[in-house]
Amino acid sequence: MTTPQELPRIVAPSILASDYSRFGEEAADAQRAGGDWLHLDIMDGHFVDNISFGPDIVKALRPSTDLFFDVHLMISRPDRYWERFAKSGADGITVHVEAEHDVAQTLSAIRAAGLKTGLALNPATPWEAALPFLDRLDLLLVMTVVPGFGGQAFIRQTLTKIQAAAEARERRGLAYHIEVDGGIDAETAVDATSAGANVLVAGTTIFKAPDRRSAIQSLREAGR
Ligand code: DX5
Ligand code: ZN
Repeated sequence: MTTPQELPRIVAPSILASDYSRFGEEAADAQRAGGDWLHLDIMDGHFVDNISFGPDIVKALRPSTDLFFDVHLMISRPDRYWERFAKSGADGITVHVEAEHDVAQTLSAIRAAGLKTGLALNPATPWEAALPFLDRLDLLLVMTVVPGFGGQAFIRQTLTKIQAAAEARERRGLAYHIEVDGGIDAETAVDATSAGANVLVAGTTIFKAPDRRSAIQSLREAGR
């Protein structure tokens, strides 16, 4: 039986908070500083009220690092676009349950292409929305802020959703990662990991830190 403790702690710097004029160097630096994955936030100005970058930029970043590319699609039609991100070097693709698509079908197609699958839930979306898809998931992303912008405060009410995700995983003998994204720092990481999260996405806490290596280290050790 899988327990949260058995899954490795993964720290995923979110490139959204980096210096865009030095995008490639920032990606390389995330790896040098000890990051495990690189989290890439894709926003279409429709699903969320912000626009970030697209598949060509992801492709341009790919040679800068060999970190796992954890691509988070905050877009209305992930079914139309996920393949372009796969071709650009994504290793895992996370789609939102609230987006306009056949969720089961999108997840199956991503998995059939040999990529890791992820499903994201906005803070206002109840845990039950994920239930039909759990056995198709390598990762469940519990959004801990309303998606769209970095630098927001962690929403504590999401902790019960993390607990429900961890309990269901154990009950069903599944092994998906539980990722948290938004407002993660050394303090909120303690709460999120004790609720059952093992993948910590952090933008501001890592990229705006004077010492990125120690920022990553503090997330890796939070609550231990
Ligand atoms: C929010 C994004 C996050 C964001 C997190 O819409 O999905 O990945 O980069 O930023 P911080 O860590 O600054 O809250
Ligand atoms: Zn994200």
